Amino acid sequence: MSSLDNLTLRLRRITWETEGVISLDLSALDGSDLPGFAPGAHIDLQMQDGQIRQYSLCGDPADRSTYRIGVKAVASGNVSRAIHRDLRVGTLLTVSAPRNNFELRPAPNYLFIAGGIGITPILPMLRAATQAGAKWTLLFCVRHHEEAPFLAEAQAMGGEVVLHSSALGTRLDVAARLADAPADTQLYCCGPQALMEDVETHSRHWPQGHVHFEWFAARSRPEDEVSGGFEIFCAQTGVTLVVPPDKSVTQILAEAGINLSTSCEQGICGTCECRVLEGVVDHRDSILSTAEQESNAIMMACVSRAKTPRLVLDL
Ligand code: FES
Repeated sequence: MSSLDNLTLRLRRITWETEGVISLDLSALDGSDLPGFAPGAHIDLQMQDGQIRQYSLCGDPADRSTYRIGVKAVASGNVSRAIHRDLRVGTLLTVSAPRNNFELRPAPNYLFIAGGIGITPILPMLRAATQAGAKWTLLFCVRHHEEAPFLAEAQAMGGEVVLHSSALGTRLDVAARLADAPADTQLYCCGPQALMEDVETHSRHWPQGHVHFEWFAARSRPEDEVSGGFEIFCAQTGVTLVVPPDKSVTQILAEAGINLSTSCEQGICGTCECRVLEGVVDHRDSILSTAEQESNAIMMACVSRAKTPRLVLDL
């Protein structure tokens, strides 16, 4: 994690939420207030071996004493398994300051769709929507209904919660549910890639800017695999660099000693965002909306490339 604004926090409490899911409460060593955050924000958590993962802040933003994150132990996730296995109350952890790629926009109505642990960025949104006097519905998709993390908390937040359980045969029919596209409703979705792709497919007729996703794994896009090299010109430093097909912009910048913070290196956290002054970006991140990508004003330099022979970056 190459960033100057990292925090060292103490793990103050571990809570077993449901099968395979724990929550961690993190606080400053001296108990002082932590940097504030808005619903949808995440922090980067750095493990002792240097691996970094992004976790949504699922606690109450009004509580400045604590960051709470939810961690699901997944068979293929060596970091999440290490968190479950190795972390103890009192452990010191390095985290980034909060970053938000999933901001809650003001609206009279919200539709939230969460899949399993994808409920974590949405939990503070439920509270905020209620506090703002908005109406909301949460469609909470899980395999087994007894394994829905933070369900009781979501149900206590004052909106409508509908549990969809594969085991009970009450799976969400995404196409049917999204057929109507109300003009006054903002849709927020976080969960497994298959669910989010389903929601993306069946919400294309929704008004632009009304559908929002939080991706916690890089989206697999076969068309991204082939790419040639290109040139970048760093306008502030006056340096021209060549990005070969097998290297990223951030790798080339680091080799040249030009500082651009990075974290996930997968286009999902937003740390490496940089302004584009000229050229057309081949966007490969999982953060920017279609409109933001088409504006060609910013790029995630860890994964995105160029459609033109040259990009001019504000670096
Ligand atoms: S480092 Fe996370 S988006 Fe680039």
